[in-house]
Amino acid sequence: MAKKHRRAFGIDIGGSGIKGAPVDLSTGELTADRVRIPTPQPSLPDAVADTVAELISSFDLDDEMPVGVTFPAVIQHGVAQTAANVDDSWIGTDVDALLTERTGHDVFVVNDADAAGIAEMDFGAGRKKKGVVLVITLGTGVGSAMFVDGTLVPNAELGHVLLHGDSAEKYMASSIREREDLDWETWAARLQEYFSHIEFLFSPDRIIVGGGVSKKHKHFLPLLDLKTTIVPAKLRNEAGIIGAASLARQEQKALAKKAKKDAEKTK
Ligand code: BGC
Repeated sequence: MAKKHRRAFGIDIGGSGIKGAPVDLSTGELTADRVRIPTPQPSLPDAVADTVAELISSFDLDDEMPVGVTFPAVIQHGVAQTAANVDDSWIGTDVDALLTERTGHDVFVVNDADAAGIAEMDFGAGRKKKGVVLVITLGTGVGSAMFVDGTLVPNAELGHVLLHGDSAEKYMASSIREREDLDWETWAARLQEYFSHIEFLFSPDRIIVGGGVSKKHKHFLPLLDLKTTIVPAKLRNEAGIIGAASLARQEQKALAKKAKKDAEKTK
């Protein structure tokens, strides 16, 4: 049984499902089966917050267990700044405050790709990797997490670099492959354009490809010709949950340290 203080709860808010589970942060493993509830439609802030609260209450969590939540948008200091693939009403919403108030837990919100990236760096294909590592998630949209010697540069949004005059994700996301019914070769040619551009802009040391389609990596990664080592993510579907939990634990520790320092100052 994992020690209590090495555990946190992770929640992944996606377009179709909201998934959550407790995570043992010494191994990166889920300590109970994950629960999935369909994302309410329309996915407005109030309805999503109620679903997150419902999900948490289906587990018997200690009050002090930190909760990390992923969200598919730029998240700065807990506030959603964009809404590329979610309802526009999220822009300007303090997601952190909304979920903390609704669930009664200390909630930390993070961009979904940043969370997946943190999980890969801690427990997956980025473990112990130095230099510039890019984690690119191919899903409904295209997410990215950028690491420099293991430190996250948050909200990189590399799915929105311009390709053919628009956000690259509108040309090469996994959802576009499905919608346009592209065969693997045709889609890989689009990925080639995208990753060559990314490689030119950032000279990364390693690219990790995540998102649901990464489990089918054999169909497209071998077709790419890049200078950079490009590998599939290891954690697949659970990366968001694990990364969010890991971040929540780190934030809780940082806040406790700060509170201790502040208390010492006022002595
Ligand atoms: C959003 C990102 C998100 C990605 C994956 C993009 O459209 O702008 O914030 O990480 O989709 O969900």
